[in-house]
Amino acid sequence: MPSTQRHYDLEAFNAVMTPEVADLSQALTVDGDLPEGLQGGSYLLNGPAMVRLGGRLMHPFDGHGFVRALRFEGGGARIQARFVDTPEWRRESAEQRPLYRGVGTRVGKGAFSNMLAPKMKNPANTCIQPWAGRLLALYEGGLPYALDPQSLETRGLETFDAALEGQRTVLAHTKVDAARQRLVMMSLRPGPSTGFTFFEFDAQGRQVARAEHTCKGMVFLHDFAITESHYVVLENPVDLDVGGLARMLMGTGSLIGMLKSSPRDARLIAVPRDGGEARTIDLGRGLFAVHHAGAFEQDGRLILDSALFDSFQFGREFGFRGGDLPLDPGVREPGQGQHLTRFTVDLATGSVETRRLSDWSLDFPRIHPDREGLAYRHVYACTSTPQGANDPFTALIALDLEEGTEQVWGGGEGCFVGEPVFAPRPGGVEENDGWVLAAVYDGRNEAAFLGVFDPCDVAAGPIARVHLPGLLPYGFHGTWQAA
Ligand SMILES: [Fe+2]
Repeated sequence: MPSTQRHYDLEAFNAVMTPEVADLSQALTVDGDLPEGLQGGSYLLNGPAMVRLGGRLMHPFDGHGFVRALRFEGGGARIQARFVDTPEWRRESAEQRPLYRGVGTRVGKGAFSNMLAPKMKNPANTCIQPWAGRLLALYEGGLPYALDPQSLETRGLETFDAALEGQRTVLAHTKVDAARQRLVMMSLRPGPSTGFTFFEFDAQGRQVARAEHTCKGMVFLHDFAITESHYVVLENPVDLDVGGLARMLMGTGSLIGMLKSSPRDARLIAVPRDGGEARTIDLGRGLFAVHHAGAFEQDGRLILDSALFDSFQFGREFGFRGGDLPLDPGVREPGQGQHLTRFTVDLATGSVETRRLSDWSLDFPRIHPDREGLAYRHVYACTSTPQGANDPFTALIALDLEEGTEQVWGGGEGCFVGEPVFAPRPGGVEENDGWVLAAVYDGRNEAAFLGVFDPCDVAAGPIARVHLPGLLPYGFHGTWQAA
């Protein structure tokens, strides 16, 4: 059931999730005071589109990647958007029906539909990361696609000179060690034991480090963190759901439907970036976190901040209610909300302290892009108003971890707020010198805009609104590409 009275047109919201344009380029109108410091840069966003095919609605996780670039130029802004040109997108868009299995959707209504369509798709729809002269469109279930940074045309699967060849699952989330100019990626080998491999690529895309680790048990991972000397993994223990597994085997269920969060104790694993022995710290409790704000080391302690779920269930993400009902962004996920939680690990003794950093339920936490792996003070995230409400995310929150203060801006009824991205001011030194950018989907007015916020005064609302052409499809993750 919707958590609130609906203040938006469900059909309009769904119609835009399947945009008719495959290649968009147009100037945008701007209200307010667009900062000069953004000029020359681009806000990049990836997310699922074309979720409705052949009268069936696919889970947003299975929608084809639709990359948007908001270019700040000529004193204003322009949008470019393109689908990631995968073989699966070509076939499904040409035939206008689902042909591949997704992680959250069956191919069709029939019990044998999955069996008749044995291939999984890689919709390249989750993250977007510029690196070494290409844009990477990333998805959990396959290799990244490389796009041309200017035209957004798809070049093809990216292996970084075969370094990623043979990796079936590369995490959609990557980390950038800005000081060392390294892109860090992680691949996963799922199974009764879970294997991880970490890769580091230099500014030219050459592999300069690689480390492996295997842990016992089945775990789910979507994100990881880095410090100056470790890769940091927070395991989410999962079990097979017997009913979900049977449905999957019979072809009537989905991949995520066969997993459930496990009460087994979770572990934090710190794998040295220089190849030493990994440290495994038992956290003494089951837990689940999808995203991390960041990690760093200080005085012999490793600190990790994660958006930790109070409880977690797979399914119904982003308003999905099954293949026969429209997506409803106001539908709450079945889990219990998530809180920014700090794990402080004493690397000498292995003791760990856990502390909640905010009482606001939040996710999609982001920090200054140059602070990955380093101590940080400011975190920006999606939250919901009033305080205590869980998803859907209707507000933006800025946390000052040093002062212990929080600022919240709510978009109002019918508005949904996407992941905040920090755009540093060129030449700025202070961590909060720049702007926070967040896409706002305004269901009341069937419009969407990119809100530009002053990080010191988020509660005042956007200082500028860059109006997008209609209600663009909801995005998952974005990034800032400096001039
Ligand atoms: Fe994510």
